[in-house]
Amino acid sequence: MMRICTRKCCVNEEDIGAEKGKQIIEETRGFIFPAFALILNVCDFLPVLKWFRYKGYDEFRHKKESLSVSKSSTSRNSDTLVETLLSLQESEPEFYTNDLIKNVLLTLTSLSTKYGPVMYLRLGCRNLLIVTSPSAVEECFTKNDIIFANRPQTMTADKYSFNYKAVVWAPYGYHWRALRRLMVIEIFSFNSLQKSSALRSEEIRILIRGLFKVNCNRSGSSGVKINLSNWVFTFSFNVMMRIGTGKRCVSEEEIGTEKGKEIIEEIKGFFFATLLVLNVCDFLPVLKWFGYKGIEKRMVSAHKKRNEFLNSLFDEFRQKKVSPISVSESSTDGNREKKGTLVETLLSLQESEPEFYTDDLIKSVVLILFIAGTETTSMTIQWAMRLLLAHPEAFHKLRAEIDSKVGNERLLNESDFTNLPYLQCVINETLRLYPPVPLLLPHYSLEDCTIGGYDVPKHTILMVNAWAIHRDPEVWEEPEKFKPERFEGMEGEKEGFNYKFVSFGMGRRACPGAAMGLRTVSLVLGSLIQWFDWENVEFEENLDACYNTRITLNKEKPLEAICIPRQNCIRFLDQL
Ligand code: HEM
Ligand SMILES: *[C@@H]1O[C@H](CO)[C@@H](O)[C@H](O)[C@H]1NC(C)=O
Ligand SMILES: *[C@@H]1O[C@H](CO)[C@@H](O)[C@H](O)[C@H]1NC(C)=O
Ligand SMILES: *[C@@H]1O[C@H](CO)[C@@H](O)[C@H](O)[C@H]1NC(C)=O
Ligand SMILES: *[C@@H]1O[C@H](CO)[C@@H](O)[C@H](O)[C@H]1NC(C)=O
Repeated sequence: MMRICTRKCCVNEEDIGAEKGKQIIEETRGFIFPAFALILNVCDFLPVLKWFRYKGYDEFRHKKESLSVSKSSTSRNSDTLVETLLSLQESEPEFYTNDLIKNVLLTLTSLSTKYGPVMYLRLGCRNLLIVTSPSAVEECFTKNDIIFANRPQTMTADKYSFNYKAVVWAPYGYHWRALRRLMVIEIFSFNSLQKSSALRSEEIRILIRGLFKVNCNRSGSSGVKINLSNWVFTFSFNVMMRIGTGKRCVSEEEIGTEKGKEIIEEIKGFFFATLLVLNVCDFLPVLKWFGYKGIEKRMVSAHKKRNEFLNSLFDEFRQKKVSPISVSESSTDGNREKKGTLVETLLSLQESEPEFYTDDLIKSVVLILFIAGTETTSMTIQWAMRLLLAHPEAFHKLRAEIDSKVGNERLLNESDFTNLPYLQCVINETLRLYPPVPLLLPHYSLEDCTIGGYDVPKHTILMVNAWAIHRDPEVWEEPEKFKPERFEGMEGEKEGFNYKFVSFGMGRRACPGAAMGLRTVSLVLGSLIQWFDWENVEFEENLDACYNTRITLNKEKPLEAICIPRQNCIRFLDQL
């Protein structure tokens, strides 16, 4: 049925039972199958099944139907990981437990403890290489980096990538290089980051002021329970909107209110719900509402809405109807930067080079900014807060650092970061334990090569299990523990701390937004701690379980916490 070809073994067909396996398949079919299929369709990045290509998807769907109709026929041709795992469960039920099969990360991680850090799977006609060790990662992204610099074609990408023009999905080549260079210059270069730093500063002032106001309106100083997920996501999205278009999507008055939540939910609905690009999906709830076959329709409709949103944005710019919020409106040099939002820059480039800067290309750039930049950043902030709430020693150490290096007479800003090494350690430790993109994005090889001594044929999809590397006891001491100190004095080491820390990926296709992401996370986290005391309301014993819900069955729990302005900061906050 499947071959797991590794150091030792290929699973024999005889080992794979039929009757009981089918029973389990029947049992879980309505539940796991579609779920897994959905992951792959909805968010390309789970290395599981038939995520590849629309055609494959149709075949799969067809197969699934025939499976449920003719119970007697043995499905001899399982080319989904779930089917395969369910069959393996037959022979080794203690290893392949139901819980394991339901959780993609655990599944892949357990498989690699069993079969080694370089694992090659054949699922149907697709080849899949899963690597789980720093040395294998190094091999993939140094000497074989160009070979793996492609992305596989997927159904999601078919629908969303603007014909593979978007940078995330674009094949390695001239177009991708030109686009990536453009994005680096306009968004990610040091100069662009310095420029957008003013926007972030303004938005952070609004965030802190908003959190303080919510408190003022309540009598007593016992604090207010707030939905931190919502505040942080709104912040991230507003920052990206302003970089892209000069506008906010949720106004200051609306942040944290019902209205503000509605706006965010709507935007999430068409930007994110069907495509949590950089995250493992919370697929099941979606599935229940729309059913397996509704997915494609839903993707099409989301894409349409998104397109409309972007079109109307462009129209506004073209008709010069927009008056972007200028940076530092309130300050004296407010008029200096009237122009200079990303969309304006791109539209003016379009005038001189219309063949390259097509509307679709510009849309894809703006879209990627929203999709790749907001969810990852806000997830990281939330996880850092969760960890700090669960580890008061670290919280107090970080606060002491901020109090002594920045104080409570002014807002923390991006020039302070070099003086806040512990803040950077906390963030890296958060990214180690809870990487927002635990399997990175899939890569695709165009030539044969060897990895870890194995021949890997061309047209293989490469997945990097960053989550497993980050928690490997051979790689990290006490990997399950939250110890920001472990990053102290490690700056000198080679790339990715010798390929042990790969939250942003490696090589040519690594995340170009890493520096921006780190700045944003540092700014928000530092400021939240500079001005407020926080109380936990979750009392979640096991944070891992909470993280894993993202990839198993539950909708992610939003982070809620009680926010109390620090006593000695109230005067400052009042004047903010
Ligand atoms: C904490 C924040 C972030 C994390 C953890 C993160 C992580 C990642 C990862 C793992 C990849 C895939 C690398 C690979 O294929 O091997 C990626 C790609 C990418 N990220 Fe990020 N990212 C973050 C923030 C951002 C931000 C803020 C932006 C932009 C505004 C961004 C834009 C991109 C783009 C455009 C790609 C695709 C690159 C390509 O295919 O050439 N990311 N990111
Ligand atoms: C706080 O109270 C003021 C006046 O009482 C009101 O105008 C404002 O909308 C309230 N703000 C929030 C965030 O509830
Ligand atoms: C918190 O905010 C998030 C993001 O906007 C939203 O999905 C969630 O429903 C909110 N939760 C509560 C309890 O308000
Ligand atoms: C940060 O704040 C300090 C002190 O107020 C100031 O000197 C510096 O210019 C600020 N940096 C930025 C990037 O705003
Ligand atoms: C944190 O990780 C980033 C990205 O890998 C790295 O550039 C930085 O040096 C790290 N900082 C610390 C303090 O470890």
